[in-house]
Amino acid sequence: MIVLGIETSCDETAAAVVRDGQTVLSSIVYTQIAHHRPYGGVVPEIASRKHVEHLPEVIAEAVNASGLGWDGIDAIAVTHGPGLASSLLVGLAAAKGLAIRLNKPLIGINHLEAHIYSIFLDAPDRSPSTLCPFLALIVSGGHTCFIQVDRIGAYHLLGRTVDDAAGEAFDKGANLLNLGYPGGPAIDKAARQGSLEFVTFPRGFVQKLHARMPGLIPRNCVSFSGLKTALLYHLKAHPLGSGPNADVNNLAASYQEAIVDTLVQRSSHVSESTRTMAVVGGVSLNKRLREKLAAMAEKKNLQLVLSAPQYCTDNAAMVAGLAFHKLADGPSLAQAMTLDAEPNLGIGE
Ligand code: KG4
Ligand code: ZN
Repeated sequence: MIVLGIETSCDETAAAVVRDGQTVLSSIVYTQIAHHRPYGGVVPEIASRKHVEHLPEVIAEAVNASGLGWDGIDAIAVTHGPGLASSLLVGLAAAKGLAIRLNKPLIGINHLEAHIYSIFLDAPDRSPSTLCPFLALIVSGGHTCFIQVDRIGAYHLLGRTVDDAAGEAFDKGANLLNLGYPGGPAIDKAARQGSLEFVTFPRGFVQKLHARMPGLIPRNCVSFSGLKTALLYHLKAHPLGSGPNADVNNLAASYQEAIVDTLVQRSSHVSESTRTMAVVGGVSLNKRLREKLAAMAEKKNLQLVLSAPQYCTDNAAMVAGLAFHKLADGPSLAQAMTLDAEPNLGIGE
């Protein structure tokens, strides 16, 4: 089964061709970062316009690079949420048009579920049937959550951020430190030259939950908005460029340590009754997070599973791969034409 996947939920325009949910034949990602960088974050209007401009060539390139051509495509999968509404709609429109033209099935995919699935791509010794059940930590620009994965399609939300996502904390911190966009890789790099103990920034351990999040255990949840505010106040007292208290590398290292320490301590708690933990999403590329998670996992005899680096950040291979497991119960082509963008789609709630 050959699936063409399409991903346009945020600022990456991506298409990929995947065989049998596992072998990635092609994965093309056009990153829009350069267009959003001047604004210090993703501008939805620009994102959707860039998707319109680039998606046709990205899809054509993915099909060409797969070596199969259009005749080789058996089904089409597209991210329908969560994400930016106007960006999701571009992918959906393209996917619907292709499905009609090729007369092939079309299926909508949850972006968060696809991130979890990314651990199975190009990993022949790993499969959902052998790995499930496991705990997944999704750490991306828009989401931070702990999910119990019983099997593909059966999820249970165990905990989440009550405010900013981990990637958002990296991006906002980097902005305050003038390290540019996206902030995660910039802070990761600067922190390698800095001291972790320069400033002790607050750890985001949630004590009480908001009333709008019933059913969640505070000890499974994190909060990162106070951390950003702490950095802001530190910089007000010690403006950048005015002496040793404002050393950017040291601040990056201390700030990153607060995010990483929070995530690792919470992971240690949430993984108490599991043997396997997967960590996925853009922030899972962070060097310090990987080091500390590996140390925690070794101590607790926990199997730690990460995606290949190219599948940590947004891509369409994870969309096409996951679709393989869903197509048998998928909608008819006529039903699929009613597929709509779901900007706030959740997982396991
Ligand atoms: O998964 P992703 O590509 O997109 C979303 O679904 O949000 O994640 C993007 C996020 C950004 O916030 C970016 O700053 C962060 O991942 N990121 C990192 C690193 N590389 C990317 N954060 C920390 N360290 C990194 N090395
Ligand atoms: Zn993502």
